[in-house]
Amino acid sequence: MNPSYNLLKKLTQAYGPSGNEEQIRTIIKEEIKDYVDEIKADTMGNLIAIKHGTGKKIMIASHMDEIGVIITGIDDNGFLRFANMGGVSSFTSLYQRVQFANGVVGIIGMEHIEDMKNLKLEKMYIDIGATTKEDAQKKVSLGDVGSFLGDYHDLGDFITSKALDDRIGCFIAIEAIKKIKQTPHELYFVFTVQEELGLRGSKTAAFGIDPNLGISLDVTSTGDTPKAKHMAIKLGEGPAIKIKDNSLLVHPTVKNLMIHTAKENNIPYQLEILEFGGTDSGAIHLTKSGVPSGVISIPCRYVHSPSETIHKKDIENAISLLSKILQNKNI
Ligand code: CO
Ligand code: ZN
Repeated sequence: MNPSYNLLKKLTQAYGPSGNEEQIRTIIKEEIKDYVDEIKADTMGNLIAIKHGTGKKIMIASHMDEIGVIITGIDDNGFLRFANMGGVSSFTSLYQRVQFANGVVGIIGMEHIEDMKNLKLEKMYIDIGATTKEDAQKKVSLGDVGSFLGDYHDLGDFITSKALDDRIGCFIAIEAIKKIKQTPHELYFVFTVQEELGLRGSKTAAFGIDPNLGISLDVTSTGDTPKAKHMAIKLGEGPAIKIKDNSLLVHPTVKNLMIHTAKENNIPYQLEILEFGGTDSGAIHLTKSGVPSGVISIPCRYVHSPSETIHKKDIENAISLLSKILQNKNI
């Protein structure tokens, strides 16, 4: 099976910072509407696609949003001040380009700073090529949200782009939707909003769906670059079955189901213990009286930068693993 990487490219390059997921929702809806029994957007903006079945109610979550910046001020010389939308680092943002919903592009610069340790977002600005406040106001407004630019490149085995967190999760879900012709279970594929702001879309979606099982698809860090912080995850060694992160301890039945399915089908996998961060299953598992939840993670270098980097084999194996799990009658 060869996934259509053109679709992944299209998904990553579309504009979708938290709270501004419309473009992503439209692309996904068009792509999957003929493969599901029901499809709808909820109040928060989550896209919910259902494949009917009689077994367990399973919620599969991938977040549509990406990190970004929000305009907090415009000065007399037309420079913008901004704050983060999600986990934006001052160091990875410096001299990057951001793009607003209307297509306006800006460059992130900094005030003169003696010691780079003091580089903070409040000492930085966005230059949109305006020279006066009025000039800038013709292009942007307070509260406008920008996303980072970062072209998609196929490096052979690797792919690099902005927003692979978490368009890769969306892509894997889409490919599984197309692949699964028949399911013993009631599958709720949820393309969530505002994950980067604190798992917000998945929280309300899970409450509404009230699933028997939750599975999220998201990226995780690796420890496979020169003198990296220790982490037992490598690019290309298989999708990672999460054991814990800061939002979740994976329910043992879900962890075992994933490991068992991988082994049974000869799908390579790794075990993930992430010492920071969280993902949608963090919200799903605390719904109502609790939902057994787990995560299939895609190993990713340079997370939350415009050059997020993943391995094609991990993508293809994640699609297989997810599809096999969802077609397992014995869940
Ligand atoms: Co993220
Ligand atoms: Zn993510």
